[in-house]
Amino acid sequence: MKRRSFIRNGLLAGTSISSMSDNLSAAQSAAKPLIVSTWDFGRFANAEGWKVLASNGHALDAIEQAARVTEADESNKTVGYGGYPDRDGCVTLDACIMDEAGNCGSVMAIEHIKHPISVARKIMEKTPHIILVGDGALQFALENGYKKENLLTPDSKKAWEKWLKNSKYEPVINIENQLYKKQDNSFALGGINNHDTIGLLALDASGRLSGGCTTSGMAFKMHGRVGDSPVIGAGLFVDGEVGAATATGVGEEVIRCVGSHSVVEYIRIGFTPGQACKKMVERIAKRDLQKAKSLQIGFLAIDKLGNVGAFAMQKGFNYSLKSSTEEKVIAVESYFD
Ligand code: GLY
Repeated sequence: MKRRSFIRNGLLAGTSISSMSDNLSAAQSAAKPLIVSTWDFGRFANAEGWKVLASNGHALDAIEQAARVTEADESNKTVGYGGYPDRDGCVTLDACIMDEAGNCGSVMAIEHIKHPISVARKIMEKTPHIILVGDGALQFALENGYKKENLLTPDSKKAWEKWLKNSKYEPVINIENQLYKKQDNSFALGGINNHDTIGLLALDASGRLSGGCTTSGMAFKMHGRVGDSPVIGAGLFVDGEVGAATATGVGEEVIRCVGSHSVVEYIRIGFTPGQACKKMVERIAKRDLQKAKSLQIGFLAIDKLGNVGAFAMQKGFNYSLKSSTEEKVIAVESYFD
């Protein structure tokens, strides 16, 4: 099912939105395997990842397959193909992937390649390195059989040209959850968002954790700007003995506190995933309360038993969960109302 067919009052058959209280106080716990991903659009990715998990596959494969769904979704303006370009009109993508044993790969500011998550995995598996950036990353991708493509869709080009008239960057909070009218007069969640990403975490039937994170980053950013998403420890962190976490929102603030790693460290010392995410958001807010009021950051975490939790700076953040017993989008509690 395509993202555009999702309507606020007519959710996917079998998918429900649960209340915020489900999330933090009573952590989501599901029998493994399970997959979770940031935002409501994550459920389409989860469905693909689930195919791997349901056949006893590795969590890492589930993550890669799931992330590719969102990367290929032209209607998603903040991830992969169709993502908004930078201020020079170039679509530059960031992604990373990590498994339960600390193996990881990352690609930063790559152009013309539709599936940066797969390039990140290739870097992890085929090179002695963890990160490749820009032209070097593109060269590596082409050498490994990936096709050079134009990722700037007519829609995103139009949005960029409109933005060029004022050339002003203003983060917009939670726009993903606004109902908007589409050209065909139907309604959908989403709209013109200028900041977001998909982070995915999976626990497979054998108890292996993996995660991935992929984004086109901040819309109309400076050329070469890289956010938290491909930064191991910031946008994503996995410790197979403890848990995993991922982040969405304004990457600069997540990098500053090495957000996802810190969330996992909170889990290590005994906090639930939801509590761990909340502690990180509180730390960011405490550092600069004024700034925090105007930015969105969301953390999503899972422990090695499959307990899941999340917390955000602003309301409107949600995540998608798929297990053998549940398929739902879960609203997340926030620091500010
Ligand atoms: N969180 C995505 C970014 O800041 O680029």
